[in-house]
Amino acid sequence: MQPAGAGNGAHGVFVRSDTCGQGASDAFGNFNPIRDFSQKTWNRVILDLGCGKGEYTVAVANLHPNVLFVGLDVEEICVMRAAELAVAEGVTNAVFIYADDPDLRELFGPGELDGILMNFPTPFPKKKKAHLRLTYLDRLMAYREILAPGASLRLRTDSLPFRDFSLTQLEIAGYDLRWSSDDVRAMFPDEPMSAYESKLTAQGATACGFEAVPGPAPERVEQTAPLSLVSYLPENIEDLDYVPHGMQGCVANMRGRRANCRAKGLPEWTRPIV
Ligand SMILES: C[S@@+](CC[C@H](N)C(=O)[O-])C[C@H]1O[C@@H](n2cnc3c(N)ncnc32)[C@H](O)[C@@H]1O
Repeated sequence: MQPAGAGNGAHGVFVRSDTCGQGASDAFGNFNPIRDFSQKTWNRVILDLGCGKGEYTVAVANLHPNVLFVGLDVEEICVMRAAELAVAEGVTNAVFIYADDPDLRELFGPGELDGILMNFPTPFPKKKKAHLRLTYLDRLMAYREILAPGASLRLRTDSLPFRDFSLTQLEIAGYDLRWSSDDVRAMFPDEPMSAYESKLTAQGATACGFEAVPGPAPERVEQTAPLSLVSYLPENIEDLDYVPHGMQGCVANMRGRRANCRAKGLPEWTRPIV
């Protein structure tokens, strides 16, 4: 499939990857190097994974006109809004892909990406959904193949449990940390805010995160980390000033259990490490 508008200098490009099993993998991936996308040779190609409605993607594309930004999301409506925003802003270096949790190695060739950005990824706090987190071990192993030598992965999130879980996965997958911070905004005060950063910081969040690059391939890759994000909450849940997005229910539940134990004179309830 030729993506709508490709090759004629169109601004916002919206590509579905579910058309006859083709689509994005024809437009990108090994068949069609993305570096030459839209008849231009781009200095760098950066993937904004889980781009939502593209506010951040379009803002950074505006700031770096020689870099091609690829926004990808599993929500079709978000991707359409993102492409509309790119058109409205006259941005020619942002393209958007709708794909239902694809294997990124089918969309991008080996070493094709100069960076992957993950801004406020969906946390999926429960153990049974850990594999859906964008920083889950198997995904980190796949990213190794599509990142160019020296290219990095950057995470920003409101959730220290998500960040700390992700650090365990980086280590198993053999990534080297460039930095890890509890306050990424303080490190990069001039960077555009994503929609979720604006929304959650207004609710009291501080963005934490890291940047990491693949190191030598690990000899043994085995999941050994606790998978429920509850395991990464502080022991003393009452002291938590800000409850991470998506964890309100389980934090309320933990607080209730501890209060019940205290009221009944039972031993203090502690969170499970699972
Ligand atoms: C909390 S929103 C953040 C959106 C945006 N990055 C921001 O910071 O405003 C998380 C986004 O990740 C998307 N998402 C979840 N799983 C994904 C996956 N496997 N691949 C790509 N996007 C995904 C969701 O559809 C949602 O739009």
